[in-house]
Amino acid sequence: MTGATPVRALTEAEAAAELARLAQAIAEADAAYYQNDAPELTDADYDALRQRNAEIEAAFPHLKREDSPSLRVGAEAGDGFAKARHGVPMLSLENAFTDEDVADFANRIRRFLALGEETELAFTAEPKIDGLSLSLTYEAGKLVRAATRGDGQTGEDVTANARTLDDIPAKLAGKGWPDSIEIRGEIYMAKDDFAALNAREAAAGRKTFANPRNAAAGSLRQLDTAITKSRPLRFFAYAWGAVSAPFAETQSGAVDAFGKWGFVTNPLMVRILTVDEILTVYREIEAKRAGLPYDIDGVVYKVDRLDWQQRLGFVSRAPRWAIAHKFPAEKATTTLLGIDIQVGRTGSLTPVARLEPVTVGGVVVSNATLHNEDEIGRLGVKPGDVVEIQRAGDVIPQVLRVVTAGEGAAWRMPETCPACGSAAVRETDEAGEADVRRRCTGGLICPAQAVERLKHFVSRKALDIDGLGARQIELFFEKGVLRAPQDIFRLRTNIEAAGLPPLEDWDGFGAASAKKLYGAIDARRKPDFARFLNGLGIRHVGQTTSGQFARGFLSWQSFWDAVKRAAEGGPGSEGYLDLTGIDGIGEAAANALVQFEAEPHNREMLDALLAEIEVQDETPAASDSPVAGKTVVFTGTLERMTRDEAKARASALGAKVAGSVSAKTDILVAGPGAGSKLTKAEGLGVRTMTEAEWLTLIGDA
Ligand code: IVH
Repeated sequence: MTGATPVRALTEAEAAAELARLAQAIAEADAAYYQNDAPELTDADYDALRQRNAEIEAAFPHLKREDSPSLRVGAEAGDGFAKARHGVPMLSLENAFTDEDVADFANRIRRFLALGEETELAFTAEPKIDGLSLSLTYEAGKLVRAATRGDGQTGEDVTANARTLDDIPAKLAGKGWPDSIEIRGEIYMAKDDFAALNAREAAAGRKTFANPRNAAAGSLRQLDTAITKSRPLRFFAYAWGAVSAPFAETQSGAVDAFGKWGFVTNPLMVRILTVDEILTVYREIEAKRAGLPYDIDGVVYKVDRLDWQQRLGFVSRAPRWAIAHKFPAEKATTTLLGIDIQVGRTGSLTPVARLEPVTVGGVVVSNATLHNEDEIGRLGVKPGDVVEIQRAGDVIPQVLRVVTAGEGAAWRMPETCPACGSAAVRETDEAGEADVRRRCTGGLICPAQAVERLKHFVSRKALDIDGLGARQIELFFEKGVLRAPQDIFRLRTNIEAAGLPPLEDWDGFGAASAKKLYGAIDARRKPDFARFLNGLGIRHVGQTTSGQFARGFLSWQSFWDAVKRAAEGGPGSEGYLDLTGIDGIGEAAANALVQFEAEPHNREMLDALLAEIEVQDETPAASDSPVAGKTVVFTGTLERMTRDEAKARASALGAKVAGSVSAKTDILVAGPGAGSKLTKAEGLGVRTMTEAEWLTLIGDA
């Protein structure tokens, strides 16, 4: 850029200021280009901004911003909406399906908080609206932003569209609202509005929506605000995210306040005290379901006292203080056309029913899981039978029973893998129990497993590589240029080495999409710890567990060191205890990691992969807490809270909870009866404190 200070002459402060300006200028240019289809800069000027940004970042890598344009590929902005990071993540809810699940939920809470039976534990109960959640940020009482849930951390900025809704006040009414608050709730479309909209769409020769939920989502995510305005969207407020000051003491009080500030809140919400009352309310709401003007798919219960909500906190992506009690699944009858075998990434063979398509609860279903061969035996099902299926919420539909048997012959599970021909066996565990699943023994030679592992690695919840979906993976695999995760980052050279034409010249690619794909791959060379770990597809180490490890260890390096030490030392070793000491981690995950590490080809794969990419450290949850980033060990008896609560609280404050004392331990919290850990800590000069001192330190006293 002409007239700009040479990068090497910039001071740190100047570089930081310029990066901030560039981030904003590029974001504005992107918005003008992608969302308004009205570019404000010439291509050359735009490229110069990006170039300058890249140069400054190269010279001052530590100043790279979280919202740096270099972390965004055009494809993302091309989705149409700007990204909006939530002040507090938007969570999902655990599900309960039976009365017993609900009783367990209440008991878990009592145990966690150590509440005696005489202590009253009040809940709110309200319908679970079948729509999509939205977070509305109000500053000084004015709506400044509306964001969809997205992946829970970052959603899409749909402010302009949200402003068109009557149920979303532009200014808060009444008084007592915090200066800054994220108000959350559900966007939905009423049943009769949905029917009228579909009739209009059909009359105009346009595509109709499958159900009110899809119609609401499609109407909110419109690039043309005028279309959103023409759609009858509504909003119920039921929760909140970041707030600048407390504004209520109870859940029910908070929702009452929302009503006074001008929001619509659900009239069926009640406050109840016992599990019996909860179940009565559930049945009452279920009885009203068909007659309600909007779709609901269950009842949500929340602990009423907010100080208890605070103490209960979260397990990975759902609060401990709330649960969604789902209504029973919807059912339908159809013909079973055939049974296919799917090979999963761990080699498990799953029989899948191919069905005559049928509509269940507003969705067309043509596949259902049959789980495993024992289930098929129990159902006595075979191709040609008329079967009853059910679909509950987002879960995969399943076959319930045979309604009328057809003429076909009995079906038998294959004993070889349909993908690689290796024997497929049912393993027997130490207790002599046969695994319900038959697994392909082909391991690395099985193409189906390899392809499934790759699909998982790039999936939304793992590396999330845009444009590298199931189809592309299968194609690259077949061409022999993508066999293992590391090949993704060597795709261009692998294609060259295989003597194939450049991707630009492949059928269905072209210059633009090849460039986009390589760009999307490069944009993932610095994956998050949790996404990367989840992507490896290690048994018992899924999304939740990966997040727990990431928050617990913060650095990939120290995590993998612990896995190596656990593999060397075995169960009970320090490395092993460091793994199981993390909040929420049990032996299954630790054992699976150790087994994974012990396989030489896994180590080779990891080394090759880490030569291509750089796993990012997790940022501590609350960096302003005095214990963020500190390694804490609890020992002895805790008197003011349960051990689970202590661990959860420490993790929420960004501390790492370890199971063993070592030179790396920062704090040992020792209660009465502390033994060898205390002695060891004193020997090592580790800071030790009582439970009361710990609570004072973290501000909970
Ligand atoms: S409370 C921290 N209340 O259900 C808990 N959620 O499965 C925040 N939902 O993403 C959620 N009705 O979109 C809550 N009355 C209700 C709800 C509700 C519908 C949705 C919401 C959330 C999903 C979780």
